[in-house]
Amino acid sequence: MDSIAIVAGVLGCPRCGGARCAHMVASPEGIVDLTLEDSRTALDDIDYDAVYDVDPERGRGYFTHLRAQLGSLAERRFDTIVELGAGTGYMSVPLLEAFEFERALITDISPRMLAVCRAKIATTLAPERRRRIAFAALDGNHIHARADSVDLVFGHGVLHHVFDYEPLLATIAGMLREDGVAVFVEPVLRFHQALLVLLGRVVEELRGGLDLGADTTRVLAFLQHLVAGERFRGDRDFLARMEDKHLFVREELHAVACAAGFVAVDSVPAYRGETFTWKMRGYCAELGLGSEATGTLLERVAVAQHELAPLLERECWSSADLHVLRCARTPGGLAPACFAWTRPDTAAELRALAPVDTRALACWIDALRPLPDGRCELVGWIAASVPVRHVRLAGDDGATATGQVHEARIDVLRHLGSQPRIPALAALCSGFRLGPLTLAWRARVTLEVHCIDGAITTVEVALPRPAS
Ligand SMILES: C[S@@+](CC[C@H](N)C(=O)[O-])C[C@H]1O[C@@H](n2cnc3c(N)ncnc32)[C@H](O)[C@@H]1O
Repeated sequence: MDSIAIVAGVLGCPRCGGARCAHMVASPEGIVDLTLEDSRTALDDIDYDAVYDVDPERGRGYFTHLRAQLGSLAERRFDTIVELGAGTGYMSVPLLEAFEFERALITDISPRMLAVCRAKIATTLAPERRRRIAFAALDGNHIHARADSVDLVFGHGVLHHVFDYEPLLATIAGMLREDGVAVFVEPVLRFHQALLVLLGRVVEELRGGLDLGADTTRVLAFLQHLVAGERFRGDRDFLARMEDKHLFVREELHAVACAAGFVAVDSVPAYRGETFTWKMRGYCAELGLGSEATGTLLERVAVAQHELAPLLERECWSSADLHVLRCARTPGGLAPACFAWTRPDTAAELRALAPVDTRALACWIDALRPLPDGRCELVGWIAASVPVRHVRLAGDDGATATGQVHEARIDVLRHLGSQPRIPALAALCSGFRLGPLTLAWRARVTLEVHCIDGAITTVEVALPRPAS
C-alpha cells in the first residue's frame, strides 16, 4: 500500500492544507515530515530507550494489561488507526500486533524517534501488516486532519506534551468516524501532588543534613520541576518552556473532551497497585542518579509512603490514567471492575499534609551587575509559601523594573537554614532578574511581590555593592 496514500487519507499539510503538496513526500527513512520550524521535543536530546529502559517484552505485557481494560473495544476490528506521540515504539509494536486494522499511521513530533520506531516495527511485524503502516512526523499543536477518516486514535504519554491539548482533542474528535474512539494514557495530577508531599519530607531531611553527595543537585532540580509544575499549572508563559506541560484531573479532562466534541469519556487507573517508590525508581534512572543516592532516596520515600499508606490504599493510586473518549454513545465501556474514582476529600487531606500557606516571604538580591550600556541588572531569589508570579522594583529615583519569578534556583536551600518558617518546597522555583534599569546604588530597595492569587506584598531588600 502506498504510504503517501495512507498519510494523505488522514492528514493534510499543516502549511497549505494540501493532500499531495511538496511536503507530502517520504524521506529515505520512509517518514513523511509534516512538522513546522518550531516543532521540537527535548526528548530528542536523550537516548530515550536507554534512559527509560524501554523493553519490548515489558511493553507487550503492559499493553496486554491496558487492552484488557478496554472491554469490547479490545475485540474491534479497525479500518484506520492513528498513533500520536509513538516515540520509539514502546506501545506501537504491541498495538499493531494486537489490533486488526486495514491501515495504520504512526506519528511523532520527532523524525529521529520515529525512525527507531519504524526499525522496530520492521523487525517484529509480518510484511503483510507492515505494508499497511505509514509514518509521519507531526506536531500535535499543528495538525491538519481530514474529517471522518479514522476509527482509533491512540496516544501513550503524549497529550501532556502538547501545549494546546484542547484544540488537539477537537481536531481528533473531528477526524474520528461516528463510532470512533480515542484512547490516551496520561499522568495524574493527584499522584504527583502526593509524590511532592513525600519528597517534601526528603527535602526537609536534606536541610537537616541528609547527604546525597553530588546527586543532591539533581534531586533538587527534580523537585524544582515538580514544584514549578504545581505552582504554575496552566500558566502559558511557563508551560511554553517545559517539555512536560500538563498533569491531568479526570473531571477537568472529561469537561475539555466534551467541549471538544466527544460525548462520553471513561477513565481508569493505567496501572494497578503502583507505589511511589516504584515510580521514583524510574525517575531516579531518568535523572541519572548513582546507585547509592537512589538507594538512600528510595529508602526515605518508602518511610514517607508508609505514613501515607491509608490514603494510597483507599485511592488505588496510579501515576497515569487510561482515558477512552468516544464520539457516540455506543454500548460497552471499560471493564467495570477497574473503576476507582478518586474521592473528593483526598485533595483536602493532601493539602493538610503539604506545606502550609504561611505567607512568609524572604527575598535576597545576590548581585547587582553593571551592563555595558551603563545600566544594571539585579539578580535575586525569593522564598514564599505562596506562588509568586513576578516582582516589581520601584525606586524612589523613578527606576522601575519587573521580573518574572520563573528561574530554577536550587541553591536556595542553603539559605533557608535561618528561615525555618518557610517550607523548603515553597522556595524552589524562585529566581528572578530585574533590568536592565538605571539605578543609583543605595543600601536598600523596595520590591513589590505579586503572588499568583493577586495579593501584593511589599518587602525591603538589601542591595549588594555593584560588581566592579
Ligand atoms: C513520554 S514520550 C512517550 C513515547 C511513547 N508513546 C512511549 O510510550 O514510550 C512522549 C512522546 O511524545 C512526543 N511529543 C512531544 N511533543 C509532541 C507534540 N507536540 N506532538 C506530537 N508528539 C509529541 C515525543 O517526541 C515523545 O515521543
